[in-house]
Amino acid sequence: MTSTSMLGITVLIDWMQRYADKITEHEPLLTALDAEIGDADHGINMQRGFEEVRMRLVHERTDDLGAFFKSVGMTLLSKVGGASGPLYGTLFLRMGMVAAGKRTLTPTEFASAVAAGVEGIRQRGSARPGDKTMVDALTPAIIALHQALDDGATLCAALQAAAIAGEAGMKATIPMQAYKGRASYLGPRSIGHQDPGATSAFLLIQSAAESICAAEAHDS
Ligand SMILES: Nc1ncnc2c1ncn2[C@@H]1O[C@H](COP(=O)(O)OP(=O)(O)OP(=O)(O)O)[C@@H](O)[C@H]1O
Ligand SMILES: [Mg+2]
Repeated sequence: MTSTSMLGITVLIDWMQRYADKITEHEPLLTALDAEIGDADHGINMQRGFEEVRMRLVHERTDDLGAFFKSVGMTLLSKVGGASGPLYGTLFLRMGMVAAGKRTLTPTEFASAVAAGVEGIRQRGSARPGDKTMVDALTPAIIALHQALDDGATLCAALQAAAIAGEAGMKATIPMQAYKGRASYLGPRSIGHQDPGATSAFLLIQSAAESICAAEAHDS
């Protein structure tokens, strides 16, 4: 393990800033997708949450990655309404538990932290793969991430593989019927629409790949 393959606070802040940018860019899409099968607020909810995260990052002084993720999670819990705030909040709180007291994470530790976060979402929302939720993008992404790291990929390459798997998982929600959240009220009429939460979840993994690949390129 070389020092350049360790993740510190700088790259994680970059991840959150890139994601906030991506949410702003895709707010109309996320809201339009939620208008089709929900209540047309997913883009607005996510933008409100990540603009607050962005504002707090400016004042972020901690080196403790556990405290950093906990602060992101608490911000989302307090600022984002609806189903997605507590779910994304849980993801970051669980990541914070894995990263508690650490100033750097190895690629494997980062993957374990994300996996713990996704497991937290699954427990909190009790959604299973196939229920047409964010879990349908996150689960294949995590599997691909671990698989690629086991095969010896760099974290950049592994996250790129995770983003491809997450995108496929996101698109796979189109023919699904929703069994969780507001979209489930539509029953079979939820079929034929891409899930908004799976879309924001894919963007989260894609942002991680972009930040970590940029850091690897800079270090090499
Ligand atoms: N139980 C659940 N488990 C996992 N994900 C869920 C669950 N319920 C909803 N979601 C995800 O949340 C997304 C909707 O998020 P959004 O921000 O629009 O909240 P909301 O459903 O409008 O909340 P509310 O109905 O409480 O206002 C869905 O597209 C889905 O991916
Ligand atoms: Mg909604």
